[in-house]
Amino acid sequence: MRRPWIGGNWKMHKTIGEALELARALKAGLPAADSVEVVVAPPYTALKVVADELRGAAVQLAAQNIHWADQGAYTGEISPVMVRDTGCRQVIIGHSERRQWFGETDELINKKIGACLNHDLEPVFCVGETLEEREAGRVEEVLTRQVREGLRGFNRGEAARGVIAYEPVWAIGTGKTATPETAQQVHSFIRDLLAGLYDKTVASAKRIVYGGSMTPETARGLITQPDIDGGLIGGASLKAESFLAIVKECI
Ligand code: PGA
Repeated sequence: MRRPWIGGNWKMHKTIGEALELARALKAGLPAADSVEVVVAPPYTALKVVADELRGAAVQLAAQNIHWADQGAYTGEISPVMVRDTGCRQVIIGHSERRQWFGETDELINKKIGACLNHDLEPVFCVGETLEEREAGRVEEVLTRQVREGLRGFNRGEAARGVIAYEPVWAIGTGKTATPETAQQVHSFIRDLLAGLYDKTVASAKRIVYGGSMTPETARGLITQPDIDGGLIGGASLKAESFLAIVKECI
């Protein structure tokens, strides 16, 4: 049985004060059941205060990105050592917004996943096709490349770490959630890919979560699909009420 994983990607939202307020509301409203793994990814500036606020609560902390090096002359970057130091246990890697706006390539993403593994950080490895790629019938080709290149060089133990987030770019922030059937088809394809790259044990244990306009209304239909193991939530994670409602849909 794969334990559902629900992550809130706060993106470039929330001042320190606003982040603290949201963390407090999450802590107060979190269901007692630990059958779901709940994760939040605040912006860097709020990681430490949110970590302190959530100490003892059943919520894990993730960073939204890292640099691949431990330290060095990389102005403006944040290292895996630094995010680990704030209390993070997970890191979102290769989000489509990083691929699109910051030129992140499969090769760079592969390096960043390696940096996570070296620092005991679980990667939340994001993949997904654009609308153009979907319309051109290239979904499987794109996902095969992203998964294979992202995991290049990792052994089965390493590949088993963290989760994969399937986030079709056309569904992110657009209000156009993928239908449960469309998402299930891709999740099942990714699981088969993992079985081919590694083996059935790795594939069947790996959590593959869906991201892209997931809301309390669409969550249940998605997460009850056999290969969908939770969600990476953007917009609906910015309010405690909607994020907690999605968590509750998974219990
Ligand atoms: P969304 O974002 O839920 O606002 O579509 C999801 C994500 O980008 O992780």
